[in-house]
Amino acid sequence: MTTNPQITVLIDDSDLHNELRADVRGGMASHPKWMPPKWFYDKRGSALFEQITQLPDYYPTRCETEILLEHSKDIVTAAKAHTIVELGSGMSEKTRILLDAFHNHGDLRAYYPFDVSDVTVEDSLEILTQTYPHLKLGGVVGDFTRHLHHLPTGEGRLVVLLGSTIGNMLPTERAELLTNLRQELKPGEQFLLGADLVKDTQTLIAAYDDPQGVTAKFNKNLLHVLNRHFDGDFQPENFSHVVIWDDKAAVIEMRLRAQKGMRVDLSALDMELTFQAGEDLHTSVSTKFRPDALRAELDAAGFGVTHHWDDERNYYTLLLAEAI
Ligand code: SAH
Ligand code: TRP
Repeated sequence: MTTNPQITVLIDDSDLHNELRADVRGGMASHPKWMPPKWFYDKRGSALFEQITQLPDYYPTRCETEILLEHSKDIVTAAKAHTIVELGSGMSEKTRILLDAFHNHGDLRAYYPFDVSDVTVEDSLEILTQTYPHLKLGGVVGDFTRHLHHLPTGEGRLVVLLGSTIGNMLPTERAELLTNLRQELKPGEQFLLGADLVKDTQTLIAAYDDPQGVTAKFNKNLLHVLNRHFDGDFQPENFSHVVIWDDKAAVIEMRLRAQKGMRVDLSALDMELTFQAGEDLHTSVSTKFRPDALRAELDAAGFGVTHHWDDERNYYTLLLAEAI
């Protein structure tokens, strides 16, 4: 027998709208202009991200899938979890590899996706309910940078964060996330973290600048989101998708560059933005990690890394850590 999964909604549309307004007021008044990356993921943005994961040049999803397929039994043995909570779960596609492995080799009882996008949580749960009738399912619509104190409870938790989403945070934001997460967990509870590694520049850039232009569309989707929320008149075609590798910081920077001088009206905010020709709006970072440095970040937050699994080419790593 299956029951409908319960979804805890910590942000509704009006909270989202207010938060986005605050981010616009802060970010668009800064030099350089910037916006936090969570606003890419409305319905259209989430669908575009799914397309990114299929692109020939976007290796992270394939690497992570390869690691999960290759080592799922070892992961289950090492993780011993009864409850999985997944942050930034998206459509939980790769997670199914884990759920299947736990079904075959472990004793998993519950799975909770936790994502800022309500449609994503609803859609993924609907699919999962049909495939995993033996699992207790529930979900959280929330922001993992603000709502970790609402982390679902359960016996023997494993918190999962895949897709190198950790890399979309700045160092201080990462430290805060890891520390907050550690505080929510009991000693011995675990954290499975997927992270993209430093590699040759060409491979890195190609993953974020595909010839099909899907990543450009995803990046520009931010402007559509702003237009819709604030009755804006951004013309996305007047911005170009720019990808820069900052070797020193080991960060891919995503920007939108104004191709000419322009004014943009956000009527609902009574706000007029001015862009100089060539001016960049910073939209996201995607940090690439060195394994030792990432372990040190986990250490500093009170996690001990017990296992790691990498793909054949050492492009990507999956770390299993334990709350100390
Ligand atoms: N885990 C999936 C999806 C990664 S895309 C994968 O590996 O393919 C990043 C996901 O994180 C999106 O679904 C987005 O909605 C979610 N997300 C981004 N920022 C978030 C935040 N601050 N809080 C909760 N979810 C967030
Ligand atoms: N976590 C993904 C990554 O860093 C998110 C991502 C993929 C992304 N492509 C992007 C973020 C383009 C912004 C722009 O790889």
